[in-house]
Amino acid sequence: MRSELISIIDLGGSKIVCLVGEAGRGHDIEVIGYGISPTIGFQKGQVVDLKTAANSVAAAVVAAESMVDFRISSVYMGVTGSQISYFRKCVSVPVSSTGHSITKTDIDRVMKAVSQIGVPSDRKIIHPLPIGFIVDDREGITNPIGMTGGRLGVLTNLITGVTNTLKNYNRVLEMAGLDVDSCIPVYQMLAEGLVVLTPEEKKKGALLLDIGADIAQSAIFQNEWLTDADHIMVGGESISRDIASYFKITYPEAEKIKKENGYAFPGAISKEAEVNLSNSKVTNFEISEVIEARLRDIIDWVKEKLDAYRTESAVPETLVLSGGGSQIRGLVALMERDLEMSVRLAVSSGIRARPGLLENPGLHSALGLLAFGNIERKKGEQKGFPALVDAVKKVLDRGLL
Ligand SMILES: Nc1ncnc2c1ncn2[C@@H]1O[C@H](COP(=O)(O)OP(=O)(O)OP(=O)(O)O)[C@@H](O)[C@H]1O
Ligand SMILES: [Mg+2]
Repeated sequence: MRSELISIIDLGGSKIVCLVGEAGRGHDIEVIGYGISPTIGFQKGQVVDLKTAANSVAAAVVAAESMVDFRISSVYMGVTGSQISYFRKCVSVPVSSTGHSITKTDIDRVMKAVSQIGVPSDRKIIHPLPIGFIVDDREGITNPIGMTGGRLGVLTNLITGVTNTLKNYNRVLEMAGLDVDSCIPVYQMLAEGLVVLTPEEKKKGALLLDIGADIAQSAIFQNEWLTDADHIMVGGESISRDIASYFKITYPEAEKIKKENGYAFPGAISKEAEVNLSNSKVTNFEISEVIEARLRDIIDWVKEKLDAYRTESAVPETLVLSGGGSQIRGLVALMERDLEMSVRLAVSSGIRARPGLLENPGLHSALGLLAFGNIERKKGEQKGFPALVDAVKKVLDRGLL
């Protein structure tokens, strides 16, 4: 029974989340323990104080443990976009058979070469994600077996993290009492896509946008692969800071005003409705002007991303909005208007939990980490290159080998 438990830690900019999930039959997993503590000792994804960071993680872990009577040692640890870099690489090997007919052995060889891709020493590969085979110059091949060619290549998206930052995370987890040798870093957006995107969206193309506390992260999924990932250091906190500085109020007051009276754009609201601040009266309209100005940074950046993506591939049809910052009223309408695409709020699926947890968009990445852990558990894969093995398995599952 205990071997069916999966634990995760999500290091967010505003909160640290620890979840314990119990894997049931079928695809579902149930959250049976959780702990949420305010993020202290981290800034913009970096550890700035080991001790307070460890205390902050330990608080979330202890709270989750107390609900399940189980000592958490290994976790899937969500890693955010601020330290993630993403690039694409093609690796190829000569086809081994004399008749140049590609065999499973050639696939094994090229996959081995992928696992050995070198990255600068200051970076570490978190996920190698193969996205298609290339035979000589022919790209986009899903099953090269039996084809004739001189070279077999595989196009791979590499998600890397900063080595020192990952080491600092490990140190924090160790100080919080976890066994770091069995903690596995996972790119948050890859995990989140598992629980908030529909199979159709993953196939046809969707841009997942998570607006968190200090970061907005985008990930494009298409043909069932994660094909692009990026981030901008703007989030819900940036909006609250703007409100605080514009109206000369404290940050907590600004945060409250944003949640209670915030609207994503002033066009849709009355110019007269007033809000009482501690030092003055302002209109809802004025508050929304400040909010929209900051949201524009995110929208313009998404627009650029979509334009750049369009030069390579068909643009995703849907934008799925997640993260705590997605809760500003009117945001879906603003994005639909400005990006001219279908926009919807993320809803998680495939996870069971008590009411309240599933509905909080700031927890989608944590729920996604559980789903990721559950998939890994089912496959019983080796630590270190889960996504690579996943890719190979995917090819196998499709009956292509
Ligand atoms: N009802 C709401 N309306 C507007 N914003 C909200 C609302 N509720 C929460 N937020 C904002 O969501 C942000 C936190 O989002 P989230 O919980 O996703 O962040 P995080 O995961 O801790 O951080 P990050 O993803 O940046 O690492 C805060 O800035 C908060 O103000
Ligand atoms: Mg987050």
